[in-house]
Amino acid sequence: MLGGGNIDPWSSEQSTDYDRMIEQFGLTPMDLGSLPNPGMLHRRGIVFAHRDMDVITDSITKGDPFGVLTGLMPSGRMHLGHSMVIEQVRWFQEHGADVTVAVADLEALATRGTSLSDGRETALREYVLNYAALGLESDKTNVYFQSSRPEVQRLAFTLGKRTNLSELDAIYGFGGDTNLAHVQAPLVQVGDIVHPQLEDFGGLRPIVVPVGVDQDPHLRLTRDITQKTNWFNVKKRKSGGLTVALSVQEDNQAEMGVSHTGRIDMDSRAKLVGNIVDSIAELGFSDIKSNPKHGTIEIPGATLGDRSKLRVMLLQIERNLGGLGLMPPCSTYHRFAVGMTGDKMSSSKPESTIFMDDDIESMERKVKRAISGGQSTVEEHRRLGGDVSKDVAYQYLQFFFENDDKALAEIKFEYESGRMLAGEVKQICMDRAAEWLSDLKRRRNQMEDTVADFLAADAI
Ligand code: TRP
Repeated sequence: MLGGGNIDPWSSEQSTDYDRMIEQFGLTPMDLGSLPNPGMLHRRGIVFAHRDMDVITDSITKGDPFGVLTGLMPSGRMHLGHSMVIEQVRWFQEHGADVTVAVADLEALATRGTSLSDGRETALREYVLNYAALGLESDKTNVYFQSSRPEVQRLAFTLGKRTNLSELDAIYGFGGDTNLAHVQAPLVQVGDIVHPQLEDFGGLRPIVVPVGVDQDPHLRLTRDITQKTNWFNVKKRKSGGLTVALSVQEDNQAEMGVSHTGRIDMDSRAKLVGNIVDSIAELGFSDIKSNPKHGTIEIPGATLGDRSKLRVMLLQIERNLGGLGLMPPCSTYHRFAVGMTGDKMSSSKPESTIFMDDDIESMERKVKRAISGGQSTVEEHRRLGGDVSKDVAYQYLQFFFENDDKALAEIKFEYESGRMLAGEVKQICMDRAAEWLSDLKRRRNQMEDTVADFLAADAI
């Protein structure tokens, strides 16, 4: 089914070769030093890569508006794996982001047969309530349903014009036997990711999408499509600086100064290029060489660092002329915590993870049975030490339950030196997890009546 090297976002198999993924998909390794107040998942290298995160850190530093978008599949119960994204959403929110949450009820209907009303029920009771308990704030959060936001569906259709089956095949490994629900779902997801930039949903601003690396195909598709819609491109100029180039497309010919006979209408072309030159000058550049006929504007003195402000200015011009003016989404990628049974965490395998509403006994049973990195006898363990890279209890402390870096480092040190036994790490994990789960439960009870406050107007 899958071509070489593809990741299938619907698969239950899991690839964990993160360096290969960075290389193969052209992700940028996360640079901790560039983040203001890195969160726990950043500090521990769990959020390991990104695309265009610098655009977001720039907004954070300048106090400029930006948004964070995430989506949820309203089938199955919420578990620890899902909470990692919300932890990141919370971090972005604390740093000034507005939050949009897509309930993928159309995707669940099409790919899992979940009815819209069951999807709604699951989304609110199982997910949004836990998001509230995990610290998302209702006044900065908008939860919507794919099925009741026509703008998202409209985008899925109009942006669908910018791709084709061969591209979907190359990205997802689709073939002739692929169910059409699986073709439509990613296009709706493109609509989810892009639509917060529409004027009615907050307007032009960077949107970051934190995901597990298995969702990168959707982001690659979205970035590719948004770039194809852009009316102006900013490229590196061969002899230094940057070049702005017009992109004449089927639906922007008149605005681009191309008459219906296909010839360039020099008057309107010159006016358009003149407008752009003026806007570039307003950004502070004085050396600007334009060639209206070729549709290029060269800025020899611009650096790569000027690219993003030029792009935003051009997107605004595009919007004023009637175009969509879409930015490619920014994204971050996190590693997966191992499943407790050794394979992937999944709601359909309850022993593989801890659910947000598991009782303490079930949690303890799962931790006790989980794979450990201890040696087979105490003598050997004292001599060789434990292996944290195999130890589920240690990893769950690292990913979820132990906030304190020092305490975590100490456990690692004691365990690796053989002084601490696997059973002792499990006990610490159970104690921390018990605290975490009961805290969450208490907050769920407190927040129960606030779920409706998280809903967007079209979701009520
Ligand atoms: N496809 C995602 C999943 O399987 C759900 C989703 C829909 C999503 N739209 C999204 C995730 C937008 C991130 C961004 O869980």
